[in-house]
Amino acid sequence: MTIQWRELIEKAWNDRKILHESDEFDSWRVFHGYTEGAKGVVIEKFGSMALVEYKDDIREDLEVIKDALLQCYPFTLIIAKGDQSVGLRLKHRMFTLHGDFSDAPEFAQEYGIYYSLLPDTMHNCGLYLDARPVRKWLANNSEGRRVLNLFSFTGSLGIAALKGGAKAAIHLDKSKDLLSRIQKSYDKNSLDIGTRSFIQGDIYKHLPKAIKNGQRFDGIILDPPPKVYKSPYSEHQPRGQDFSKLVSLCSKLLSPGGWLICLFHRYDATWDQSDAEIIESSSNTLKMTERFTSECDFPDDNIDRKLRVTVFEKIDT
Ligand SMILES: C[S@@+](CC[C@H](N)C(=O)[O-])C[C@H]1O[C@@H](n2cnc3c(N)ncnc32)[C@H](O)[C@@H]1O
Repeated sequence: MTIQWRELIEKAWNDRKILHESDEFDSWRVFHGYTEGAKGVVIEKFGSMALVEYKDDIREDLEVIKDALLQCYPFTLIIAKGDQSVGLRLKHRMFTLHGDFSDAPEFAQEYGIYYSLLPDTMHNCGLYLDARPVRKWLANNSEGRRVLNLFSFTGSLGIAALKGGAKAAIHLDKSKDLLSRIQKSYDKNSLDIGTRSFIQGDIYKHLPKAIKNGQRFDGIILDPPPKVYKSPYSEHQPRGQDFSKLVSLCSKLLSPGGWLICLFHRYDATWDQSDAEIIESSSNTLKMTERFTSECDFPDDNIDRKLRVTVFEKIDT
């Protein structure tokens, strides 16, 4: 089936008018193929760069896609990034379609905060665009709080909390390569990273240790990947995002009045079921206070297929 790229991309661009008319951020998803006519293809804008990510072999269509994007916006760099499931060697699936790679932006900008980017990495380049409203919420709800950022990746959610006045943010992630990327965002935002802001290690090792040491936080960010793998530090076999085990630990680390913000990105439970699981896993020490979802750059009529975010508050017991 021939895909009418020019029409699809132009329509997607016009549907996001509200985003490109805003001067509050320079990055958003330009095309969400899953619901906009080309399953497995997404296009994201970071400043003047566009990233075309594809899971089906659409290499023959890339020139047309590039021209359609340039009709919408004067991108200085357009990169094609094929998933490994395309079955090709890296150099045949990731390459520049337009412009010079040396022009790749080092940072995305959102609500006055900078986030470091690494555009040629095979995984996410550093900023999950569906979580833009989460970063905004954190910037507005972290004043004076000590915040724990779990599964931190490049630290973006904790950095938003800090720029919103958090007293401290502690990032935890098992990946070794993240510290330099987090450091780069701290420097650009004139934040001091100190020596205790990043813990590199397994969450199932560090959370029980923090509980034993009597640590307390006024805010915890819980954004596990869609599939959490079994840890050598825990006997249990995680299911999906493993919220039940993680919340049973997190709720013990939360001060009364503290918030827990959970990001759900699996489609096997409804929002109500996910929230009920969290409350039950906390032994009813949490109550739900707020819910929101991703914005118009991730269109989907089925709310349970979008990123769903729930905020809980620790009840004063
Ligand atoms: C979906 S990303 C989190 C995105 C992040 N919250 C953000 O907004 O940029 C998942 C992260 O979880 C980390 N991770 C996965 N399993 C882990 C574990 N058992 N302990 C610590 N980190 C883990 C991965 O290294 C990865 O960086």
